[in-house]
Amino acid sequence: MVVCKSQSELDKMRRSGHIVRQVLDELRAMVAPGISTMDLEKLAERRIKESGAKPAFKGYYGYPCVLCTSINDEIVHGIPSAKRVLKTGDIVSIDCGVVLDGYYGDAAITVAVGDLVSPERKKLMEVTEQSLYKAIEKVKIGNTISDIGGAVQEFVEAAGFSVVREFVGHGIGTKLHEEPQVPNFRSRGADMRLREGMVLAIEPMVNTGGPEARVLEDKWTAVTLDGSSSAHFEHCVAVTRNGPLILTQ
Ligand code: MF3
Ligand code: CO
Repeated sequence: MVVCKSQSELDKMRRSGHIVRQVLDELRAMVAPGISTMDLEKLAERRIKESGAKPAFKGYYGYPCVLCTSINDEIVHGIPSAKRVLKTGDIVSIDCGVVLDGYYGDAAITVAVGDLVSPERKKLMEVTEQSLYKAIEKVKIGNTISDIGGAVQEFVEAAGFSVVREFVGHGIGTKLHEEPQVPNFRSRGADMRLREGMVLAIEPMVNTGGPEARVLEDKWTAVTLDGSSSAHFEHCVAVTRNGPLILTQ
């Protein structure tokens, strides 16, 4: 069942989305060689608490942290650790979710560490973020879920990269994950039409090599099968009469 949101519900989601954005902005500025992913986690946890919101990920199916921090060949769901110290040339994806007043916000960015990030990784980050905006342009009443993924896939593959299939975006509202699933590729089952008030977390995950993923022994961290680099950007977007409304702005 897909739950469409009223204007007052969208206002609440905007507030949770705003908190997520403020946290991510601060973390982006903090990323530097020598910073550990646990340093990022600690700051995020403090800021979320100060905002009056609650972290959305911690405790979700037993997930241990408020952030997911995924470095280089890690696609998503990397677990923050004091032992994972960022170094120049790395790229780190930071995914953050909160719940405020019963409504969820969820967003992700990928950030370059230091000055020695390769041209390929820089292009990967640019293409992945741009593919998210290509997808957002499709968030219009009457378009289909498949139009969103199609826009990501077309843009990413034209750039010579590949789209991860094992993880997808999702509806979001009073739960972190609601229907429908939002794949980042054109898919047969995804012919659902977009309706006013639907809210979608669109989150392309893009690899420089092949699309295949595997999950590490920690049961969470998803990495590329071929060791290639991966980037991830995410926004929550509402379907409105006036077109897409980004709630995690
Ligand atoms: N943005 C990711 C998602 O929507 C993060 C979930 S992490 C989890 O799936 F721990 F909550 F699972
Ligand atoms: Co999400």
